[in-house]
Amino acid sequence: MRKGTTFTRFIIEEQRRIPESTGEFTLLLSAIVTACKEISDDVNRGQLINVLGSAESENVQGETQKKLDIISNEVMIKALEWSGHLAGMASEEMEDVYPIPNRYPKGKYLLVFDPLDGSSNTEVNVSIGTIFSILRCPDGITEPTEDDFLQPGTRQVCAGYVLYGPATNLVLTSGQGVNGFTLDQDIGEFILTHPKLTIPEKTSEFAINMSNQRHWEPAIKRYIDEVVAGKDGPRGRNFNTRWVASMVAEVHRILMRGGIFLYPRDGRENVHEGRLRLLYEANPMSFIIEQAGGAATTGRERLLSVQPGKLHQRIPVILGAREEVERVTRYHLEMDKEREGDIPPHRQAS
Ligand code: AHG
Ligand code: MN
Ligand code: MN
Repeated sequence: MRKGTTFTRFIIEEQRRIPESTGEFTLLLSAIVTACKEISDDVNRGQLINVLGSAESENVQGETQKKLDIISNEVMIKALEWSGHLAGMASEEMEDVYPIPNRYPKGKYLLVFDPLDGSSNTEVNVSIGTIFSILRCPDGITEPTEDDFLQPGTRQVCAGYVLYGPATNLVLTSGQGVNGFTLDQDIGEFILTHPKLTIPEKTSEFAINMSNQRHWEPAIKRYIDEVVAGKDGPRGRNFNTRWVASMVAEVHRILMRGGIFLYPRDGRENVHEGRLRLLYEANPMSFIIEQAGGAATTGRERLLSVQPGKLHQRIPVILGAREEVERVTRYHLEMDKEREGDIPPHRQAS
């Protein structure tokens, strides 16, 4: 008999603590995790089964889709549409909301997901992942439209990701802390390996794509200049940098050993409102980070409080160690004060 709490046992025990629970949420989570195991297998065997490389198509955001982006999206849809727990889904790889076909029963939840985050890394065998966020479908709605998905991150019922790295990890929150699991490939079950994850308030490690430096706003330039100056600069200590180009891997590193991750808005036309997507990247990750004791901001406001304006809305993301995130926010506020009136509040961006 192997040691360790299986994911199945974990979610059933969690369910028992909520007497009024119907079990619907538990079954939904279980179905999501089964889909991710399938994606994990596809990613793992990618080079052998010829599913790497570009699909020669573009998603709604004009990004070239990888074959694995499309396959992962299909796996999620097929694993979940029949379940009866969802009223609708939305994904990075689909322009519009995906309604549950009428041949299946409808449930009370909505699911938003990034089927494969960091997919530019598939050919180079660097960690990638699936990110998901569960929302409640507004009362009385059985055919949800885009508006029903436009809920601020504070309304998430659950958020999680599965990281396909040297090991496959599942990290999850439903608002009572963060728990991490590792896939035992032999038995096909996730095992609770990282209960009650918390991240240190301080850090000396930062993650940002330095090649965008010339496009940054002054607040970000100031913060990065200061940390790069190390012990000779105003921070008086050395910092270290990391950039994986898979948000899932960056967030996982921060949960394991601390740090700050920044993908700020910048002067490039397509990054003017940020690079990452609010509903299926920024919100779930911010929920997890906050639940682990960290913080997440757009630079100007708490990320989870942003009212989404559209399904594929982008947003600046700064998350991780609380003290550092608060410092970056302060730098933004000071910068904005200096050039009062120049920049509209983020929530007004279309
Ligand atoms: P996706 O593969 O889902 O499009 O997301 C990639 C994201 C994110 O994971 C990562 O942090 C960032 O894009 C990388 O951006 P750069 O290419 O600018 O480094
Ligand atoms: Mn992504
Ligand atoms: Mn993606």
